[in-house]
Amino acid sequence: MRVAVITGANRGIGNHWVVRLLEKGWIVYAGYKENLGGLEVIENENLIALQLDVTSSESIEKFVGSVEGNVDLLINNAGVPDGRWRSLTEIDDDWALEVLNINSLGPVRMVKALYSKLVGSDLTKVVMVSSLMGSIDDCHMGKSYAYRASKTALNMFTVAMKKECIEDNISFIIFHPGWVKTRMGGDRAPVEIKDSVDGMMRILENHTIEDSGIFVQYDGKKVKW
Ligand SMILES: NC(=O)c1ccc[n+]([C@@H]2O[C@H](COP(=O)([O-])OP(=O)(O)OC[C@H]3O[C@@H](n4cnc5c(N)ncnc54)[C@H](OP(=O)(O)O)[C@@H]3O)[C@@H](O)[C@H]2O)c1
Repeated sequence: MRVAVITGANRGIGNHWVVRLLEKGWIVYAGYKENLGGLEVIENENLIALQLDVTSSESIEKFVGSVEGNVDLLINNAGVPDGRWRSLTEIDDDWALEVLNINSLGPVRMVKALYSKLVGSDLTKVVMVSSLMGSIDDCHMGKSYAYRASKTALNMFTVAMKKECIEDNISFIIFHPGWVKTRMGGDRAPVEIKDSVDGMMRILENHTIEDSGIFVQYDGKKVKW
């Protein structure tokens, strides 16, 4: 049976990844920071819900220590918005650093900690849930300073690490999930969670190592850097 690890799995996009992968017969290790949330109502013996804070090495180590055998898919989904500051004078350094810590370094910590379990004879896929807001090319509106920068940094971390990982048969895919109706995306968002996740899953299924490091949105359209 194939094994997946998902961060930020108690609600939003991450929670729906859990639901869809379980439906497809995967064993899913689902990380939640504090509350089980949507994981509590899923009844499936292939679901293993474990506490996981991607900023804490101790929490990550404990989580990884509970994962049995190899991992075929890592979905780095956990993320936070910034303070939605209205001008650069409002930027709060401490929160800006925390946003970078969670959104950029969190996924890198997960790859590092799980690395020996990601290496196998079959192709392992690592999903980075990034954002169109990390695209420098698309940054016409400005603002969302720390959130944008955190996703741009995540993209660069991913592209920078893909080369050494290709040798170990590990391939990366960087997704913009769309503007999705979640707590982060808000009610006005045009994309339903289900459509976002189903779209990303379709792309993931056909993903090969030759495509490692691509930046693509949930409907298959490539995103400019
Ligand atoms: N929704 C959109 O329109 C949109 C657009 C582009 C990109 N994205 C990206 O998609 C991903 C999922 O977002 P979403 O819309 O589903 O947001 P969401 O509903 O706000 O969910 C965010 C998830 O991340 C978790 N999380 C936050 N900090 C964490 C930490 N330190 N360690 C572990 N988990 C942590 C949250 O846990 P708690 O419940 O404990 O806080 C929650 O499960 C994010 O990376 C986001 O940047 C979303």
